[in-house]
Amino acid sequence: MRLIELTSDYEMKPFDCGDAALNGFLCDEAKLFLDLQLARTYLLCDGEEIAGYFSLLNDKLSKQDVANSAWRKVKKLFPHTKHFGSYPAVKIGRFAISTRYHGSGLGRELMDILKRLLKQDRGYSMFRFLTVDAYLTAIPFYEKNEFKPLAPAGGQGDTQAMYFDMKLLPRP
Ligand SMILES: CC(C)(COP(=O)(O)OP(=O)(O)OC[C@H]1O[C@@H](n2cnc3c(N)ncnc32)[C@H](O)[C@@H]1OP(=O)(O)O)[C@@H](O)C(=O)NCCC(=O)NCCS
Repeated sequence: MRLIELTSDYEMKPFDCGDAALNGFLCDEAKLFLDLQLARTYLLCDGEEIAGYFSLLNDKLSKQDVANSAWRKVKKLFPHTKHFGSYPAVKIGRFAISTRYHGSGLGRELMDILKRLLKQDRGYSMFRFLTVDAYLTAIPFYEKNEFKPLAPAGGQGDTQAMYFDMKLLPRP
């Protein structure tokens, strides 16, 4: 399998993860998001087949958007002089695995690839947290990938805000 970055000239292949919104995003929106500089999308390809994908965009983890108990845990990660009202983050806008591969460990593998990709990135800016609005059905998957809740489950409808501390990863 190989990870490729979606480009405007990529010839899209069929993809089905069992969720119409996530399928539709990849087929109909991902290139537009790239063109409008709203999100970058990466495809995990098994030969010609798309086995999974994720989209990334910039974000911030803000006190005002987070439950008090969760914010206390976030603050504890920093010395007192660095208790800010928000911290830089990268958001996983979309994350999906093709139904053909569900339960095979590929989701975890793709999440590890995503984390490593971002940890190794020697870009011009920096961020501390990964964030995601997890589908309620996918919360156990994110928990197993060391994401923590930011608000009570179901607080924002069918998703739960969660975060992962990039400092947990060893330096590349
Ligand atoms: C959620 C999703 C990405 C998981 O991918 P996957 O390849 O099936 O997951 P993995 O096989 O790597 O599972 C890793 C671990 O998470 C657990 N897990 C995965 N999905 C789970 C679920 N829905 N409920 C409970 N546990 C789950 C697995 O049991 C496994 O645990 P283990 O290591 O103890 O065996 C995939 O099912 C999917 O694309 N679903 C549809 C789209 C979706 O919900 N995306 C998330 C949007 S926020």
